[in-house]
Amino acid sequence: MYSIDLNKPGMIKKEEILGEIQSDEFVYLRIPNSFSTAEINLNDLIASITSRTSRLFVSIESFETISQFKKYELLYPISWFGVPVKVGSNQFGGKNNQTLYSGVDSNSLEIFENLKNKFIKNSKMIPEFQLTENHYQLGPTIVEFFNRYKIPFAFLNITKEPTDASVLAFRETFESLRVNGFKGKIYFSFNNNHLEEWNLKTFNTFSGLQTVHIDLSNKCTHSCVFCGVWGPDFIDEMKSKSPNNIIGPELIDFMNRQMSFVKAIEILESLPETVKTVQFGGVGDPLTHPQWLNILSRWKSRGFNVEVLTNFEYPSFNEIDILHEHSRGKKNLDFMVNISAASAGSYIKVRPRQTTMIYEKVIANIRYANELKKRDGFGLNFVLINIINEFNYFEAVKMIELAYDLGASVWLKPLEVHSEIHKNFSIKNEHYDDFQKIMKAALLRADQLRIDLVMRSFVEAIVGEV
Ligand SMILES: C[S@@+](CC[C@H](N)C(=O)[O-])C[C@H]1O[C@@H](n2cnc3c(N)ncnc32)[C@H](O)[C@@H]1O
Repeated sequence: MYSIDLNKPGMIKKEEILGEIQSDEFVYLRIPNSFSTAEINLNDLIASITSRTSRLFVSIESFETISQFKKYELLYPISWFGVPVKVGSNQFGGKNNQTLYSGVDSNSLEIFENLKNKFIKNSKMIPEFQLTENHYQLGPTIVEFFNRYKIPFAFLNITKEPTDASVLAFRETFESLRVNGFKGKIYFSFNNNHLEEWNLKTFNTFSGLQTVHIDLSNKCTHSCVFCGVWGPDFIDEMKSKSPNNIIGPELIDFMNRQMSFVKAIEILESLPETVKTVQFGGVGDPLTHPQWLNILSRWKSRGFNVEVLTNFEYPSFNEIDILHEHSRGKKNLDFMVNISAASAGSYIKVRPRQTTMIYEKVIANIRYANELKKRDGFGLNFVLINIINEFNYFEAVKMIELAYDLGASVWLKPLEVHSEIHKNFSIKNEHYDDFQKIMKAALLRADQLRIDLVMRSFVEAIVGEV
């Protein structure tokens, strides 16, 4: 989602905006009443945006100016026009006593209906509701609009920061919608600087999610000892529980499960415009999915930040070239690589079924992506995840140095112990002092090399008084 507000024309540089908009990103363009074309050429701006994305929403501040927009509708493939709809008063601001506390504001529906002939394609009209004193009408009116016009979403027009009174009014409105089982998408205006605060304070559950985690695949070829599904000891334990010492069909089915391409795209298409980050991860490795690159590319092109939890063995250099291209623009493409070692020796201890060659391939992949980043000034971001356990804790300083060498950040993530098997890999009591000292040295080395430590406070807590 990208927002351009022509109320603030001083800040607008067309070339910069266009460099940042992703190919299929939702763009919210606010055009105020007082907008002067001398400041920026609107034709030019709309032409450029629609040449990049098919998802342009033009928000019109006042319905007196709506007819001016017909020409843009004719010239450019604008997807939606946001038109102002006051609820709970007559449309000119005064209170309308007849409709006070009486459910649906029929006046606003009537005016919306009359506006329809101002556009060629009526279905492009999206109400941008404006709250007035009588907020009791807003909920029922929203429901009626969605029922009558089958709109895909609606906006609530807000200005400045939330006040106590407006927060209360919107909370009550949303509560009334929830009570009525309403399922539509309602967003606060995307051009507002306090958007997140508005959503949080008013409990706007209709604005949808900000972060989505998707499990594309339960498959993985790695054998991380601490992995509850693919760790060799965990597999042996599963077998020992079955009568013939085999992995049962149900479990095999679970381990092989992958989301279908169609389903993945369906989810993508249904995500609300408020989503900022999509994370691919889960039980297996998302890059074992046969369509991972297609799916990931599509997600990225919608203008989301994308995070991928992976072992990063599988991509070829060609695929890294494609990923690199997707990392242009302001949205991040982050790979959180579970490496859990800083040498081939530890790598194969942590992953007994892998070889030295695989460690080298992973390092070569990250190095290659980082070279592209250095060359172009944009590129993939990497976090090296190290699940700290008995097999690798003594390499913590080296983990920092490896990250420095590869242009990555580091996460020194303590092993989570949630089974008897995990206890075999947790730091032994007799090694704990040593472990604390090494973690302290790793902290200092990270500071020296200016390496970002994810969840640094966890490491600080381990180091304690040392
Ligand atoms: C299960 S993996 C799947 C994604 C991918 N295959 C990978 O290796 O990152 C997801 C994340 O969980 C972490 N993880 C798995 N078991 C863990 C444990 N016992 N303690 C801490 N982290 C764990 C992995 O290191 C990884 O970062």
